[in-house]
Amino acid sequence: TGFLSSPRSPSSSLIAESIKQPFVIGVSGGTASGKTTVCDMIIQQLHDHRVVLVNQDSFYRGLSAEESERVHEYNFDHPDAFDTEQMLECIEKLKKGNSVHLPIYDFKNHRRCSESFRQVNASDVIILEGILVFHDQRVRDLMNMKIFVDTDADVRLARRIRRDTVERGRDVNSVLEQYAKFVKPAFDDFVLPSKKYADVIIPRGGDNHVAIDLIVQHIHTKLGQHDLCKIYPNIYVIQSTFQV
Ligand code: ADP
Ligand code: C5P
Repeated sequence: TGFLSSPRSPSSSLIAESIKQPFVIGVSGGTASGKTTVCDMIIQQLHDHRVVLVNQDSFYRGLSAEESERVHEYNFDHPDAFDTEQMLECIEKLKKGNSVHLPIYDFKNHRRCSESFRQVNASDVIILEGILVFHDQRVRDLMNMKIFVDTDADVRLARRIRRDTVERGRDVNSVLEQYAKFVKPAFDDFVLPSKKYADVIIPRGGDNHVAIDLIVQHIHTKLGQHDLCKIYPNIYVIQSTFQV
């Protein structure tokens, strides 16, 4: 819950300013944990607000000719595989209310589509989803709420095999090899240690309707405070932290 304070306090005016910005949610978790599924469920329930989903995958770097030839030796699960500077710039622009052009990534050919992009406009809520969105402190600092989707590794691997063979043009052997060589070690080294930054941890991903309902309720409350600030600019609402 929040409380109302004097309009003259400079610190509360700063807080009011920050409330007027879009509400930024980070959603992290291991591969195939259900991050996208959880985001889609949140977006569906926030139908009366403008929400944009930004995938960290959009910021995968393109591979050099040499890297493309030896793609099985490339680690797509290391933080360096992403252009984090570009992602940071995009989220900062969106947070300021500007529109951005996001790259579109092609998992089959391991490269960005050079001829097309996705235009994303100003919105009330920005959701940034990806395996390593909590890795960089500057990105974390832009988030108002951080969610970690926690799904057992065997369930994730089973889902990944199905998804990568059906949707990403891989064969079962290459999925298993990549998982053992890069995906699992990087999960242990980078993804799991970033779980400590989460405000909310969702066990079982999209199956956990109670957690998703609670999160949506919280976002509605925050957006309600946002609207209050727009209608009554002289009344400042102090935000409180959210814990489950
Ligand atoms: P992530 O974004 O974390 O990679 P996704 O939400 O895309 O995960 O889910 C990965 C795969 O698992 C997709 O094919 C999706 O359809 C499937 N999936 C996700 N959640 C569930 C669930 N609760 N039950 C069954 N399949 C699921
Ligand atoms: O959707 P998900 O979170 O699973 O996407 C991240 C995964 O995509 C990483 O674990 C990485 O191994 C995989 N990936 C891939 N090939 C690419 C880019 C990413 O297999 N070209």
